[in-house]
Amino acid sequence: MELEKEFLDSLKNTNIDTEKLKESFTKKQFLGVRFNRQKFKNIEINAQNMQNFMQNNDILCKFSPILWCNDGFYYNEEVRLGKHIFHELGLYYLQEPSAMSPVEFLDIKPNDFVLDLCAAPGGKTTQIANKLENGFVLANEIVPSRAKILCENVQRLGIKNCIVTNNSPQELENKFECFFDKILVDAPCSGEGMFRKNNDAILEWNINSPKQCMARQIEIVKSAYKMLKPNGKMVYSTCTFSLEENETVVKFLLDSFDDLELVEIDHKKYGFENGVAIDGNDSLKKSARLYPYNIDGEGHFFAVLHKKDNDSFVRRNKQTQKFNKQHVAIFEKFLSKYSSNKYDNYVSIGDYLYAGCPVDIDRIKVLNAGIFLGEIKKDVFIPSWHFSHTLEKDEFKNTLELSETQAKQYIMGLEVDTNLSDGWVLLTYKDFSLCFGKVVAGKVKNHYPKYLRKQL
Ligand SMILES: C[S@@+](CC[C@H](N)C(=O)[O-])C[C@H]1O[C@@H](n2cnc3c(N)ncnc32)[C@H](O)[C@@H]1O
Repeated sequence: MELEKEFLDSLKNTNIDTEKLKESFTKKQFLGVRFNRQKFKNIEINAQNMQNFMQNNDILCKFSPILWCNDGFYYNEEVRLGKHIFHELGLYYLQEPSAMSPVEFLDIKPNDFVLDLCAAPGGKTTQIANKLENGFVLANEIVPSRAKILCENVQRLGIKNCIVTNNSPQELENKFECFFDKILVDAPCSGEGMFRKNNDAILEWNINSPKQCMARQIEIVKSAYKMLKPNGKMVYSTCTFSLEENETVVKFLLDSFDDLELVEIDHKKYGFENGVAIDGNDSLKKSARLYPYNIDGEGHFFAVLHKKDNDSFVRRNKQTQKFNKQHVAIFEKFLSKYSSNKYDNYVSIGDYLYAGCPVDIDRIKVLNAGIFLGEIKKDVFIPSWHFSHTLEKDEFKNTLELSETQAKQYIMGLEVDTNLSDGWVLLTYKDFSLCFGKVVAGKVKNHYPKYLRKQL
């Protein structure tokens, strides 16, 4: 792959070594997998344990740790983790190793309210959610088709505390003024850091790309700043090298808002390069540049910003939710038959019922509001695929463990034979929830979402 002279010349004001960059293009990209803590509550996630877990299930993986992310590992490409049933069960997320860095420096605490402003396809959203307990993450994506994929990934991983929205940053900013403890802006960019991984990114690039992206990035970070609470932190990240899209955007924030400051990180520990000082602003060196010739991963940039505290600040309280009482009663009747779990903070969107949504979501476009419990059709509750993925086997009274062949057949959309009596059943594979099914006269009727059916 030839790197254009025009592109290499455009990097001359950065601290990148273009010869080393060119050489890094002769080497293979690194593959990364991040395990979903939601599914491994009783195992410490480390390379050896996860390798044993996979090998005990006949998947011959070799994992090695990714320095900056405890739940993330490099893996060998022969195992095709994306094609395995475990992927459908949400046990892991395939994520480029460098892309795992920004969230690790956002300092997320279990009860934080987090905003992931440019979130699709959801690698970083699911990583954030894995660090939360009573907090929640609002994952927003402006492009409708991409917001759907984001929603699917959040639901596949069985994330319970995520609201997925499809708005522009400007549409969100008035509703959530000074609201979030932590904000991630993983901005749309010219993708220069991904050229080795993705040839199309090179074809789409031209000399004007960085400037055009910068204009959009500045609009996005202005909104993000408004939504950040005093004493909150924000990470701005891209997968590109240009000064325009990185330090210049961060400098814009520092120059515009005097309550923002950059947070120090330990570059040496991880092999990150410092950011570049522009116009004599040395504090920009606190940003991190990830170069493919220094680290095992693709190119990335991130900066951690802190908004100074303001003693007089009080966050607005949440407002009451709107839900259909009759739908909740129908759901609770279903629940009392099959589970002793308790749910609250219900939200209705048409005939869809959600639980665990702690904030007012009026007047924004919501695709997922916490746990998508299911749909009420003619006064009957139909539990959802997402709901099944939030459950552990012992949280549902009626379960059926499938063989590998049966699980694959169910994912294709076929029925499964059973001697269970009629009613809802939680289907599991290797004790992990796959989906609900409805037993009717010795057959489990297929409820695997049509848009997810596939041949594995
Ligand atoms: C780098 S990607 C995000 C990747 C994601 N954080 C992840 O880890 O999976 C940037 C996203 O920003 C979205 N985007 C594009 N224009 C935007 C805008 N004006 N405001 C907010 N987001 C935008 C893109 O559609 C894209 O999905």
